[in-house]
Amino acid sequence: MLNKIKKIVSKKNKSKIICLTAYSKNFAEEIDRYADIILVGDSLGSVLYNYNTTRKVTLDNMIQHSQSVRMGIKKSLMVVDMPYNTYRNKKEALNNAKKIINKTKCEAVKLEGGSKIAKIIKHLIRNKIPVMGHLGILPQSVKGKFKSKGKTEKEKKKIIKESILLEKIGVFSIVLECVQASTSKLVTKSIKVPTIGIGSSIYCDGQVLVTDDLLGLNKTNIRFVKKFVDLKKVIGQGVKKFKKEVQSKKFPSKKYSY
Ligand code: KIV
Repeated sequence: MLNKIKKIVSKKNKSKIICLTAYSKNFAEEIDRYADIILVGDSLGSVLYNYNTTRKVTLDNMIQHSQSVRMGIKKSLMVVDMPYNTYRNKKEALNNAKKIINKTKCEAVKLEGGSKIAKIIKHLIRNKIPVMGHLGILPQSVKGKFKSKGKTEKEKKKIIKESILLEKIGVFSIVLECVQASTSKLVTKSIKVPTIGIGSSIYCDGQVLVTDDLLGLNKTNIRFVKKFVDLKKVIGQGVKKFKKEVQSKKFPSKKYSY
């Protein structure tokens, strides 16, 4: 576990870190061939369950999907998001992080926030739970529209200060969500652990996207999402072919029957 983390940290300033989300085994299996980190993100709430907020995602949701993902991973580092209201104090955070790790065999957890939850993160790390930080937009805390972070001098200073604090207490990397380019550049230069950007510019040490978004499975118009393939179209083509062959009695032929 620690070796995997060390390997990821050692990529800083050498090669870009590839991080993607997965919520199930089949996706994880394929992503594992290319990724350094597979994140079971609480974005599964909006992507799979149509929730309008990640706050509705439960610990059981995260554990169930993570158990499936675990079966698909051979080499990547597996990180699981701690969902909303599962780390309100040190005791609750440690109990729930241990539960996630014991039940899913993931190697690390991710928590959203900086100084407000620093004591909690520190407590987890002291208890040998590897933690990935998350700054910039914090979906578990956002009410209403998402606005990018780090545009004003005040916001810039706050994000840099919080990144340095997270590094100091021992996180092994930090996700920067929708952080303005010059700020993510400064953060990335200011800390020794890697930054993983989502909508936060090329200057981050690595990039993460929600896999369903990049594959075109999830309808979204978020600026940072690039559709790398239209998998929805491919699925439609396959299903259409199946329908046609069933209706024309071409399928199942003898080859596919007992
Ligand atoms: O929940 C999630 O998938 C995330 C990533 C988008 C960083 O936190």
